[in-house]
Amino acid sequence: MTSLKGRIRESAGIPGPVGVFDSGYGGLTILREIRRALPQADFIYLGDNARAPYGNRSFDLVYNFTLQAVEYLFAQGCQLVILACNTASAKALRSIQQRDLPLLDPDRRVLGVIRPTAEAVASYTRNGHIGLFGTPGTVASRSYDMELAKLHPDLVLSSLPCPMWVPLVENMEADGEGADFFVKREIDRLLHIDPQIDAVILGCTHYPLLLNKIRKYMPREVTVLSQGDIVAASLLDYLARHPEMEKRITKGASVRYLTTEEPDKFSSLASVFMKDPVQAERVTIDNITS
Ligand code: DGL
Repeated sequence: MTSLKGRIRESAGIPGPVGVFDSGYGGLTILREIRRALPQADFIYLGDNARAPYGNRSFDLVYNFTLQAVEYLFAQGCQLVILACNTASAKALRSIQQRDLPLLDPDRRVLGVIRPTAEAVASYTRNGHIGLFGTPGTVASRSYDMELAKLHPDLVLSSLPCPMWVPLVENMEADGEGADFFVKREIDRLLHIDPQIDAVILGCTHYPLLLNKIRKYMPREVTVLSQGDIVAASLLDYLARHPEMEKRITKGASVRYLTTEEPDKFSSLASVFMKDPVQAERVTIDNITS
């Protein structure tokens, strides 16, 4: 059997699907918008549901898990991988881009979701007061603070970790009563930190799955930003500037769904969310031979 690194080498430069990775279901909110933007492209979605949530995990673990996922997707032939996960983008993206990519294959690309969101946010606020909901890992990394300080130093950012929101989604409780309690509580807490906030970033790709509840408790005058359309627009822009990568995406309009957990559970939630029948496959990414 060819090793993982061998399969990466063999697929170098050969067109393949776009890889989309998240710890679990959250990246589907990104995939849905990217597919709308690139309807002809092939995709492989990988959710590491068996090890989600990532939000409370250490820097090293998130980096190791994310690198395993990227290597797995590269070995499947992906030339471009989107980390559709803020926690992975905050804790692993830079190391993978700077340390691992040059060794794995310098011509492939791994892109994240934080930079495009930070670039876009200024056009959604009138008074410059921004809120951020994120996982404890994303908030503690201060990645949004650093990006905004570079891009829009005038904006005032207030952040709140929401440790319960991802478990609600992963356990299919996003529409349950428990979600009302935790969503309302965190909105109240954020607006207590800065009552002037007029735009809020949902800085975790799972959170749009709680959008009904978030809209219910968020004051109407506050704009709620989901990342899907922002990331899709930024990807289109990237591909226009990098036609060599655009050519390395196969165009069969297909999606393969891979999960490290129970595929039936994944398929039922993903089918509802993607409004398409989804048949997920279970894969193992943590004991692959390198
Ligand atoms: N959806 C991810 C994010 O955007 C990860 C959430 C988690 O696994 O805790 O941060």
